[in-house]
Amino acid sequence: MKFKILLYLYLLFQTLVVTNAENCDYRSVGGDTEGEECYKKELLLTVAHSPNQMTVHNNTLYFSFDIGNGEYSPATIQLETKKTSMLKGIKDAYAMTTDRDNGDVYFGGGHGIYKFKPAKKSLKKLAFKGLDIWWLMYHRELYYIRFPSLNSYRYTNKTIRPVKALEDISVHQFVFDKRDNLIFINSTGLYGVEDGTNTAVLIQDDPKFYVLARDKYGVVHACTDEGIFKVHGMREATKLIDIADVLGLTFDDESNIIYSDARNLYRLLSV
Ligand SMILES: *[C@@H]1O[C@H](CO)[C@@H](O)[C@H](O)[C@H]1NC(C)=O
Ligand SMILES: *[C@@H]1O[C@H](CO)[C@@H](O)[C@H](O)[C@H]1NC(C)=O
Ligand SMILES: *[C@@H]1O[C@H](CO)[C@@H](O)[C@H](O)[C@H]1NC(C)=O
Repeated sequence: MKFKILLYLYLLFQTLVVTNAENCDYRSVGGDTEGEECYKKELLLTVAHSPNQMTVHNNTLYFSFDIGNGEYSPATIQLETKKTSMLKGIKDAYAMTTDRDNGDVYFGGGHGIYKFKPAKKSLKKLAFKGLDIWWLMYHRELYYIRFPSLNSYRYTNKTIRPVKALEDISVHQFVFDKRDNLIFINSTGLYGVEDGTNTAVLIQDDPKFYVLARDKYGVVHACTDEGIFKVHGMREATKLIDIADVLGLTFDDESNIIYSDARNLYRLLSV
C-alpha cells in the first residue's frame, strides 16, 4: 500500500516536472555551451509609460516610470511579496545603479544625482549644478553619462574626471565585465575597451543594440529589437532568448533576468 502511494506520488511528480518543462514561456536559443534553458515569465508589475534603467539590491527592485509630466518617479518592488512603493523626495530618476558593496542606490535625471541608503532610508543630493543624467553605473566608483552630450564621466572623492577611453565619443550605455573590459553601445554599434587600454574595438554593429546590463557573474547582456544577447568577452554577442522590444534589463540577487517592455516588468525564472 505504502509502496503504491509512493509510486503514485513519484509518477505524479514526474508528470508535473515534464509538464512544467514543456510549458516554457521562453527557451534559450543556440550559441551557448550550457545547454537549453527553459524560462517561466513572471509578471511583476504593469505601469503606464516605460520603465528604463532598473537595479536590484537585497531583493528589492528599483525602477522608475514617467508620471506624465516628462519626469521619472522612482519606485520599488519587494520581489518576494511584490509589494510596490513610491520613493519620495527624488525629482526625476531616469537612471539608477547600486553600489553592491554597501547597498547604496544612486538615481540620476534632469536634476542631477541622488544617493539613497535603503537601510537608513536616507536620501542625499550630490552637489552637482546643472547636471542632466542619461545613464548611471557603479563599479568601484560612480560612472555617469551626461545628457545631451552623451559624454562619460567618473566621480570619486568629489572629483569628476572624463572616462579616458570614451573621451569625445557619444555613448548610450556602458558596463564592465568580469575582466574589467569596458563594454559600451552607441548609435554605431557594440564596442569593447580592453582593461588597461584606451582603444575601442568593434564587437558587432548588426543588429542594433539598445540595452546593456551585467549579471551577478560579470557576464554582459545586450538587447536588440529581437532578443536578449550574451556578450562573450570582446569577441561576439550571441542570442540567448527571443524576446522583442526589451527597454530595460537587470538581474535579481540570484542573477535571474528582470526586464521591462513598454508597459510591463517581468522576471524570467529558469525552470
Ligand atoms: C534587506 O531587506 C530586509 C527586508 O526588507 C531588511 O530587513 C534588511 O535590513 C535589509 N538589509 C539591508 C542590508 O539593507
Ligand atoms: C579616494 O580617496 C581615498 C581616501 O583618501 C583613496 O584611498 C582612494 O584611492 C581615492 N579614490 C580615487 C579613485 O582617487
Ligand atoms: C561610437 O564609438 C565608436 C568607437 O569609439 C566611434 O568610432 C564612433 O564614432 C562612435 N559613434 C558616435 C555616434 O559617436
